[in-house]
Parts: sequence; C-alpha cells; structure tokens
Amino acid sequence: MRLLYGNPVAQQILREVEAYARQHPLRLDIILVGNHEPSRIYVNRKLQQASKVGMQAVLHHLPETTSASDLLALIDQLNADSAVTGMIVQLPLPGPLEQEMILERIHPLKDVDGLHPYNIGLLALGRARWAPATPWGIVELLKYYSIVTEGKHVVVVGRGRLVGTPLALLLSRAAPYGNATTTLCHTRTSDLYEHTQKADIVVVAAGQPRWFPPEGLKPGAIVIDVGIHRVEGQIVGDTHPEVAQAASALTPVPGGVGPLTVAALLQNVCKAHQAQTLAQ
Ligand SMILES: NC(=O)c1ccc[n+]([C@@H]2O[C@H](COP(=O)([O-])OP(=O)(O)OC[C@H]3O[C@@H](n4cnc5c(N)ncnc54)[C@H](OP(=O)(O)O)[C@@H]3O)[C@@H](O)[C@H]2O)c1
Repeated sequence: MRLLYGNPVAQQILREVEAYARQHPLRLDIILVGNHEPSRIYVNRKLQQASKVGMQAVLHHLPETTSASDLLALIDQLNADSAVTGMIVQLPLPGPLEQEMILERIHPLKDVDGLHPYNIGLLALGRARWAPATPWGIVELLKYYSIVTEGKHVVVVGRGRLVGTPLALLLSRAAPYGNATTTLCHTRTSDLYEHTQKADIVVVAAGQPRWFPPEGLKPGAIVIDVGIHRVEGQIVGDTHPEVAQAASALTPVPGGVGPLTVAALLQNVCKAHQAQTLAQ
C-alpha cells in the first residue's frame, strides 16, 4: 500500500507561489470573527505561510458580537481596496451571522476560498478560474502522484459545501485530472457500499472520525481521506485504520490532504491576481 503524502505536493505549490509573489505584490486579508479555537489555529497557519512565501498577510480579528452590518462594511472596504488581492472569511461564523449572505458580499475576483455562488457556478460550468482550496489540493495531489482519473469511477462520500460538492464537480469536468465518472453520496444514499465497492477511487469527506470501513472498498481501490479530527489527543481521519490493509494507496491523516489546503489557498491568491490583471 502506497501512502500519498501531501507535504511534497504542498512544497511544490508553495515554491511556485513564492516565485510568483517575488514578481507581483500580493496581499491576503483574513477576517476572523470570535475565538473558535480551531479557527484561530487555521488562521494563524494561513497567515504564517502567506508571509513565508512573500505575501502581505493581514488579519482582521473581530469580536464574537460583531453585527452583520459591520462585517459587511469591512468586506465592502476590502473589496474597494486595490491593495487587497484576496480575502477570506474564516468559517464557521458565530451563531446569528448568516454565512451565505456574508460570503456573497465578497467580490468574486477576490474570493480566494472560491465559495461565492458565482465562482461555484463557474466551477459547475467547467469554467472555474480557481476552486475551493481543499478539493483543488486533492486534484494537485492526484496530479503529483500521476493518479489518472479519466474514465475511472470515483465515489465522493459527503456533499459538503467546502469539500464534497466542489470536488465532485472538479473530478467530472472535461479536463486533465477530471473526466471521471463521479458519484456523490450522502446520508440519504440508500446503499452506500453498493456504490463505493465499485469505485476505483473513494474520497471520504463525511466528517465522521475513523468511520469508513475496509468492507466498503473494492480490493486495491485508492482512498483519499479528507477527514481531520482530534480524538483522545490524536489527529484522525474519516476512515477506519484497517482501510490501510484494503486500499492500494491512501492519504495518511495527519500528513495527507491536510498540508494541501493552505498551499492551494495561496495558489488561489496568485490566480486571483492574474484574473484581476486580465479584468483591468
Ligand atoms: N484536510 C483539510 O484541510 C480539511 C478541510 C476541510 C474539511 N475537512 C474535513 O473534511 C470532512 C468534510 O468536511 P465538510 O466541511 O465538507 O463537511 P460537512 O459540510 O459537514 O459535510 C459532511 C457530508 O458528509 C455526509 N455524511 C455524513 N455522514 C455520512 C454517512 N454516514 N454516510 C454518508 N454520508 C455522510 C453528509 O451528508 P448530508 O448532506 O446528507 O448530511 C454531508 O454531505 C470533515 O471531516 C472535515 O473535518 C478537512
């Protein structure tokens, strides 16, 4: 069984981003509302990595009590600021703030998380300028390890907005490392394993720690485990540990998909800069 490590892929992407940032001034603004501990950790990683590759990284840390109108006013200000290349609003937002309305306020050319409905629409049409970071990182991982998806049957387990849905769109588009026959499963799928047992590649993005079992695979399938959970002090994925015996290749957790998310986000900042330059 081959382990598909994310770090070499992420390092390759980050070298390209660094080279681009040497030629062009790039700035990433991150809005963090409240003190959700995992979000603070993720945001710090993004800020540190952005600075490391030569981008200006700016944090707007707002209190949990921030009103929707204040948050929208900040987004408007960053939309209008030509020094800002890209921005993200770290999710989840605290309680009453309506996520969809907030995400829709980000200018699509600065939406480096790729979550604005306009950008998801372009993705659905096969015309995306960039894609949400975690699913795009998975495509980069497949490319790096020469795992061809064309003509393959891929089952994505989980139709979440951040991972499953955009990944299913990416893998089924007419493009290199697309062209797969893609099935998207969720909690209402009537016989999940009937689908996954036929798949050449299974992507598990269900948010269930150590859940997906080896019986759900055809022998020798390739498994991409997107899950990331802290259980009894350990970082674990969405697949059962015995999946390692049934799969021919597997992304480890930690160290698989995880390192790719930040690298792909920073790559999106470069793509946003290119798109903004073209739009001028
Ligand atoms: N590595 C990284 O950098 C990274 C980044 C983002 C997310 N993640 C991880 O990726 C996973 C998915 O994230 P997400 O934000 O997309 O999650 P999400 O929005 O909560 O979506 C989870 C999806 O899984 C489906 N699901 C849950 N239990 C299932 C079951 N027993 N059988 C079939 N489908 C099931 C749900 O179905 P319904 O729609 O029917 O409810 C839902 O569509 C999480 O483990 C998260 O921690 C990792």
